[in-house]
Amino acid sequence: MKNKFLATLLFACSMGTLSAQTPVYLDDSQPVEARVKDALSRMTLEEKVALCHAQSKFSSAGVPRLGIPELWMSDGPHGVRAEINWNDWGYANWTNDSITAFPALTCLAATWNPEMSARYGKAIGEEARYREKDVLLGPGVNIYRTPMNGRNFEYMGEDPYLASIMCVPYIQELQKNGVAACVKHYALNNQELWRGHIDVNLSDRALYEIYLPAFKAAVEQGGAWSIMGSYNKIRGQHACHNDLILNKILKGDWKFDGCVITDWGGAHDTYEAAVNGLDIEMGSYTNGLTSESAFTYNDYYLAHPYLAMLKEGKVPMSTIEDKASRILRLIFRTAMNRQKPYGAVCTDEHYAAAREIGNEGIVLLKNTPVVKKGAPLLPIDAAKYQNILVVGDNAVRLLNQGGGSSELKVKDMVSPLDGLRAVYGDKVQYAKGYAAGRPMYGRADEVPQTVVDSLRAEAVEMAKKADLVVLVGGLNKNHFQDCEGGDRLQYGLPFGQNELIEALQGVNKNLVLVLLSGNAVEMPWVAKVPAIVQGWYLGSMGGKSLADVLSGAVNPSGKLPFSFPAKLADCGANAFDALSYPGDSIKQVYKEDVLVGYRWHDTKKIPALFSFGHGLSYTTFAYGKPVASAKTMTTDEMLTVTIPVKNAGSVAGKEIIQLYVGDEKCSVLRPAKELKHFTKIALEPGEEKTVTFTLTPDDLKFYDETASAWTLEPGKFKIYIGASSTDIRGMVPFELK
Ligand code: BGC
Repeated sequence: MKNKFLATLLFACSMGTLSAQTPVYLDDSQPVEARVKDALSRMTLEEKVALCHAQSKFSSAGVPRLGIPELWMSDGPHGVRAEINWNDWGYANWTNDSITAFPALTCLAATWNPEMSARYGKAIGEEARYREKDVLLGPGVNIYRTPMNGRNFEYMGEDPYLASIMCVPYIQELQKNGVAACVKHYALNNQELWRGHIDVNLSDRALYEIYLPAFKAAVEQGGAWSIMGSYNKIRGQHACHNDLILNKILKGDWKFDGCVITDWGGAHDTYEAAVNGLDIEMGSYTNGLTSESAFTYNDYYLAHPYLAMLKEGKVPMSTIEDKASRILRLIFRTAMNRQKPYGAVCTDEHYAAAREIGNEGIVLLKNTPVVKKGAPLLPIDAAKYQNILVVGDNAVRLLNQGGGSSELKVKDMVSPLDGLRAVYGDKVQYAKGYAAGRPMYGRADEVPQTVVDSLRAEAVEMAKKADLVVLVGGLNKNHFQDCEGGDRLQYGLPFGQNELIEALQGVNKNLVLVLLSGNAVEMPWVAKVPAIVQGWYLGSMGGKSLADVLSGAVNPSGKLPFSFPAKLADCGANAFDALSYPGDSIKQVYKEDVLVGYRWHDTKKIPALFSFGHGLSYTTFAYGKPVASAKTMTTDEMLTVTIPVKNAGSVAGKEIIQLYVGDEKCSVLRPAKELKHFTKIALEPGEEKTVTFTLTPDDLKFYDETASAWTLEPGKFKIYIGASSTDIRGMVPFELK
């Protein structure tokens, strides 16, 4: 169909190079709104309705008669997914759709560096453009509510401010390629269990303060051209056609002018879809063969059934005018955008971006000396060790596979074992240590206990003879791990890894543990393991990023975008009965309310094992005293806070300085403190920089449910400057008058 569009354009050009006769909608020197109006005026009702639903698994129709091309979509969010068959989920087995896998979004969030986010968006946008995609299904910005959610790895952590800051540059840079972001999953898709129907109930405060801000930032600051409705219900109505979150909030309050696209199979009702803000319906069931209509996609809720309701006057014509306008606008911004660059895949620049995002996102959780006054194990000094044993399935596993829709077909993938061998050469031995089975979808692969025992025994024997053991474990993309369509079954490490860690530690004290996962895990052995690294899912260059950090070529500078509760009951969402998590299979109530993540740990004084914002470095940073520009602030003033920060060690490093605000007394329950600003700075050894933050009255507001508005309440506040949410290095009190 794209050829038809080109033919129309060529025809227009040959008739006088987009002359006065050129229809306005084809003339890209005209404002988009004029083009939308013109195209609409030429279309039949049937043509308008045809825009509103899929015509294959990953495309929706254009208007062939007018040379308006179809929209091609692809997952997202960590790379451009391989081509899928026209009518089913099978891969098309092309030979030219291998791409770069970028680190998972949890890793991007852990960089706390918006520049990394911009590089991510630019690189993935170029790859999507090269693959001729118009809409990339990502980024994901659902809030990390519980470590049991199988899909947390696709999101940006537990804090709405961090997720907001980090998603914006991704979207902006991606869209410069003429490829729309489709921000997902709007909203409250915070677990995979029963995701298709669970009815999420929560307070307005939790909705506005915790779960919506990242979507709002994506729309208002990122300028996202599309958004994906989630599978779940919200207060009784499916999110894909939900009056509150689509009509009132997204299109009303936030003035979103783009398209709402369903999650695949997320539409359930024609009338609601017509009147409650859905624009494009994707993925509703059809096998392409059995159907009422000759063209099966015409059976979609927003296809013939919608057309019939329009003709019978059962839904207003204004609904289709609005939907068609939005879809045309999206087409003009993407498929019919002649200014867009050509794009590229697997370039050196893309691999460099993937590697550096990995470098900046890896978090050093713990690095204590094995013997008193000795040096910590990390970075691994090549001169010290002759025999380094690498253990673990994740050291060699292709973690681009599995996980659900974010699965990627990569051109290149450097494993942790490859990465470490490239640095330490033949000093490196390998033992698998544990087996995790295949990344099956919908069920877990069972590994026989005899295999588990023999792999462990082999690794332990080899560990006895090694100078240093590096265990690369964690979760993986198998079903019930970090994978779409199901939640985790346990908070602890799977595949017998707890036993393996204890056994390895029993024979070799020089144990470095690298956890690859998108989720927190329980660590009963934490006190016994001297060095622990959170390595996420790092994509194509993962092995290189890890080796860079483990060897000290790169000084770790990532910090946790979510808390690691010591045990599951310490997490707010999991501290209540089953109605809070996972719900009673029909309904769910978010009982922890606004106290998500560190807000719960801090306010309830239940320390996390590793706190939000935590991450160590191979150097140390000395924070000076924070100084505020005034002791009081009025409701229309700003307050600046300055803090000197010095690299007090002997290697260069980067530090993330975090500013939290706590309201001392308020008419509603507020978290002990909340992240309001942060910055990441690079410091040479001995170098000092002064960081300045500007606090605005907006930073002090809460969502007032009685007034349905953001409100300021005068009183005493405290500004906390921290190296993490619990490692507070300075405090300044002030009063809001
Ligand atoms: C997922 C979406 C994805 C879509 C298309 C759904 O199952 O929830 O995130 O974009 O499939 O693959």
